[in-house]
Amino acid sequence: MDKMAEEIKEIFISKYGNDPGLYFSPGRINLIGEHIDYNDGFVMPCAIDKGIFFAIAENGSDRIRFFSKDYNEEYETQLTDIHAAGSWKNYVLGVVDEFQKAGEEIKGFDCAFSGNLPVGAGLSSSAALEGGLAFGLNEIFDLGLSRKELAFLCQKAEHGFPGVKCGIMDQYANMLGQENKAILLDCRDIDHTYIPLETEGYSLVLINSCVHHSLASSAYNTRRNESEGGLKVLQRSGRYNSYRDVKDPADLREFEKEMGKVVFKRATFIVGEIQRTIKAASYLKERRLEAFGKLMFGSHDGLSSLYEVSCEELDFLVNLARINPDIAGSRMMGGGFGGCTINLVKSSALDDFVEASIDAYKKKFDIEAKAYRVSTGNGTSRIG
Ligand code: GLA
Repeated sequence: MDKMAEEIKEIFISKYGNDPGLYFSPGRINLIGEHIDYNDGFVMPCAIDKGIFFAIAENGSDRIRFFSKDYNEEYETQLTDIHAAGSWKNYVLGVVDEFQKAGEEIKGFDCAFSGNLPVGAGLSSSAALEGGLAFGLNEIFDLGLSRKELAFLCQKAEHGFPGVKCGIMDQYANMLGQENKAILLDCRDIDHTYIPLETEGYSLVLINSCVHHSLASSAYNTRRNESEGGLKVLQRSGRYNSYRDVKDPADLREFEKEMGKVVFKRATFIVGEIQRTIKAASYLKERRLEAFGKLMFGSHDGLSSLYEVSCEELDFLVNLARINPDIAGSRMMGGGFGGCTINLVKSSALDDFVEASIDAYKKKFDIEAKAYRVSTGNGTSRIG
């Protein structure tokens, strides 16, 4: 068993005395299709082998107790008194709250957890936190929810106490990820197919800018409102029901005035990113990695100049990759305003690229960036 899993089991037993069930809940990467899960688009995430380990057991009382090893913090409350309590607690309490709202019977339990997923890096530690607890409770209390239902429940949990109106991508990848596969998730029909992740000669590497600008969650909700505003204009025309129905960003031009400058930019990005992701899926299936990589750069450019969710640090890292002939593609990943870039790099040039990026970034921002080689993994599961 993983060392971290053993450790959390021991901590659990010494704190709460019971023998717990053990679970692993992964983070995710996203190859392409950013900020379009809440815009009827397609996205292409994979679960990864980094995540959060949970120990969970029923405790025979009407209270729930949590221990976060990484924050060294405990929290305890009555099942009849679930309310927002700040930071990590909002994610786990949000899950309990959603089970209760759905009429599921949750009894008293204890939970300890610890992870190896960097927080604020755009690898979705929040979905990992929600998913691990939801999966464990579903099993322990024999609730019978499917993985897909659990993903929806976790998404609602994030809308609740944390107040981030996220799409479904992260929770879906957390529940339905498969090793060595990318999930091509259709976010309108909420259905998926798997694409083998075969990157012979190339490797995926993340460079963590190690910045996390505080705007992130408020700007996320603003982008959502702006996107909805743009969609209403399209729907009023009677010709489009969804961003997906617009096949070319140029077709939006006639709506520019009605949308206004900012919303028009957002809509232009959304339509472009949906089309890019559709193309990227066929390139990945055909293993045309260089063509795939070009779309990654295109995605970044749209996120930076039209959707405006990048930042100076991420743009700098992507621009370093752009001038390097060994890099097929690079882009910011996740919600934005910091976190990681994802890079598709010739395997033979991987070490040099990582070193050069970290050096140049340090010179420019005086910040030590970190690199993670990506290994994919399976969705949340019981491990002991
Ligand atoms: C966050 C959200 C996701 C998705 C991404 C951007 O990770 O949780 O739903 O919108 O941002 O693609």
